[in-house]
Amino acid sequence: MKPTTKNTKIFLFSCASALCLIMVLALKFPKQKLTKETNISEALVALGESLPKHARPNATAEQIQQGTDLVFKGRTIGPDGKKSKYISRFYTCTSCHSPAKEDPSIASFDPQSRLDYAVENGQKFLQGSTFYGIANRESWYNDDYEKKYGDLVKPARNSLAESTQLCAKVCSSGRYLEDWELEAILAYYWNNQLKIKDLNISEEELMLMGNPKDEKKSLSTLKSKYATKSPATFGKSPSRQDLGFEGIKGDPVNGKKVYEFSCMSCHQDGGVSGIAFTNSKVDFQKFKRSIGKKSDYNLYDIVRNGTYAGQGKPRYMPLYPKERMSDQQLEDLRAFIEQEAN
Ligand code: HEC
Ligand code: HEC
Repeated sequence: MKPTTKNTKIFLFSCASALCLIMVLALKFPKQKLTKETNISEALVALGESLPKHARPNATAEQIQQGTDLVFKGRTIGPDGKKSKYISRFYTCTSCHSPAKEDPSIASFDPQSRLDYAVENGQKFLQGSTFYGIANRESWYNDDYEKKYGDLVKPARNSLAESTQLCAKVCSSGRYLEDWELEAILAYYWNNQLKIKDLNISEEELMLMGNPKDEKKSLSTLKSKYATKSPATFGKSPSRQDLGFEGIKGDPVNGKKVYEFSCMSCHQDGGVSGIAFTNSKVDFQKFKRSIGKKSDYNLYDIVRNGTYAGQGKPRYMPLYPKERMSDQQLEDLRAFIEQEAN
């Protein structure tokens, strides 16, 4: 054997062993590059969790586009190349859900900081929770929604796909989605995930998460940085409506924000409700007169109970749980309405 061939062999052998070693090391210590742009789900997988059932990492750009159309416009171009049927004749998903980030701090659901954020960013302040990060939640139709939807909540609570079907059919007074439509909406959600940059997380915490000594601990730190569910506590009208909620004084300036960024998003001319508020004194007086009375315009009852779709009345108004409008904000709204009525 010529020495050159031998050298080549040794060289090749060393290369192969080095490569093996690198591969073994890479398997044992995967390089978890967590950057600000990393999706939360990737960070969770790096920490040993498996992807949820609704994950759609292989969704195509076309599916994401179809999902976006369905959410914003209620229809899209289907697999047969034709325009699909509207999901609902009355609403699009974004009539009741914001598609964008709506909480400045993702870890908590504070209705006042959400309202301020909506005003700053020109977004709506709505009853339904945001689709931003909905794929990062772990349960849906939480808490008191069982009171409203009963057994329908059971399959929905642990499944984002079932929740979507429940909402498409019941909450939107629409129809169940076809398989390809559901897939498209799940693709849209997956593409609309929270990212590391949305969390209030320090560089140090991020480093530790990238090279965790204790995966369990890192997982719980990560999960403490965002809300894994959108909580829902149904509120009540105050016991004495004339006096309002005990110990709460309404602020009309804040109430105006509630009125404009919430009520008016549906009750403007051409909005999803057939009832358009005119901003006239007459309208505000109707609300003012109805406080404490059994009336369609009873402010406390309409906010806390909403209305129900019925025979020949498929349009309804969703109620606001306390996490979506606080008693304080409701009292603020009343103060604004009374100010405008005078
Ligand atoms: C008329 C209002 C309305 C419309 C239209 C509507 N939703 Fe909802 N949706 C709600 C309300 C209210 C809830 C209650 C829970 C929440 O969002 O916090 C809800 C809940 C959900 C949930 C569970 C959210 C959670 O975190 O608990 C999903 C998923 C959902 N809707 C998807 C959709 C999709 C997709 C569409 C469009 C096809 C749609 N919704 C249309 C009002 C609506
Ligand atoms: C997501 C859309 C939406 C939002 C937001 C909304 N409403 Fe409504 N509201 C409706 C719909 C839909 C109806 C049902 C009546 C209709 O349009 O046919 C309704 C009905 C009402 C009615 C009449 C009740 C009845 O029994 O007929 C009042 C009063 C009312 N809303 C007040 C409010 C106030 C006050 C706010 C803000 C705190 C508000 N709405 C926010 C959609 C909405």
